Amino acid sequence: LANDIILAVETSCDETSVAVIRGGKHILSNVVSSQIEIHERFGGVVPEIASRKHVESITLIIEQAVKESGLTLKDMSAVAVTQGPGLVGALLVGIVAAKSLAMALDIPLIGTHHIAGHIYANELVHNIEYPCMALVVSGGHTELVLLEREGEFRLIGRTRDDAVGEAYDKVARALHLPYPGGPHIDRLAVGSEETIDLPRAWLEADSYDFSFSGLKSAVLAVINQTRMKGLHLNEAALARGFQESVTEVLVTKALRAVHQYGAKQLLLCGGVAANRGLRAALTERCESDGVPLLIPPNSLCTDNAAMIGAAAQLKLKRKQFSDLDMKADPGFSL
Ligand code: KG4
Ligand code: ZN
Repeated sequence: LANDIILAVETSCDETSVAVIRGGKHILSNVVSSQIEIHERFGGVVPEIASRKHVESITLIIEQAVKESGLTLKDMSAVAVTQGPGLVGALLVGIVAAKSLAMALDIPLIGTHHIAGHIYANELVHNIEYPCMALVVSGGHTELVLLEREGEFRLIGRTRDDAVGEAYDKVARALHLPYPGGPHIDRLAVGSEETIDLPRAWLEADSYDFSFSGLKSAVLAVINQTRMKGLHLNEAALARGFQESVTEVLVTKALRAVHQYGAKQLLLCGGVAANRGLRAALTERCESDGVPLLIPPNSLCTDNAAMIGAAAQLKLKRKQFSDLDMKADPGFSL
């Protein structure tokens, strides 16, 4: 098992990625080809273009990942692929490629959940202990997931509207910042001395759900009012106010969940885990509460196939294989 070699494929959104993973823990290669430059001028991911780009790149990326691993296709024990959630046309490209490999090499196919991948990215650099709580924050997701045991996921809270990254990207767009806007807002926020006070969406007292659309509207209202009055907008202060509101709610709910469920660790994952404000606030709260905080390096927080290989190892162990007629599942639940 420690020597199982998984070839993993991830094409759920705008990254074409293929990785080779040994024993679910060791990255032999992890090639990520980003389409950000192509989608940038549209201000967001265009699904049809994403699919076509995946088709153009997938074969080359597979070849490159195998070559960089120092192994050959014959060495692979299984092929893993993101089955969902994601853009259906984009998922399909990875799935067709993975099925072809599984068939040609006569090895098992493992359909893998994208969020399980984000969570198990932590296992590539740390040792996860159970029970643990995962805070998944990305362009498409904002979720609190309890793992009582290895590979057992229980969704305890999620966003009721925008995902965190999505809210970041929308606010950035209103400030005419390039796509994806998260890192730009982060940079402005961290560099600002001043702040603008914005609402916090706590929802019901015992709820672990999130909501960011009200906050986003509050930000847009500030921008519009300032522009209408012909006043100067302190964009950095607004970015900081936005980041403070997001961070306070995420940190407070995550730690409340950790304590309520007796989690031994808090795992931060997804593209927004790169956010410096969130990292700093979580680090501080976890230190004062005595909770170990696990965060993968940035390259493993954004979409990549290595994380899919790490999550697939759990299914390989249990021989939970997929049939060759496996379908893409855009709304795949954990
Ligand atoms: O996980 P990811 O690469 O793709 C999805 O599965 O969605 O996450 C991308 C998201 C984008 O919305 C991007 O703006 C956001 O992560 N992001 C950030 C930062 N870096 C990336 N958001 C806030 N602060 C950052 N430093
Ligand atoms: Zn993702």
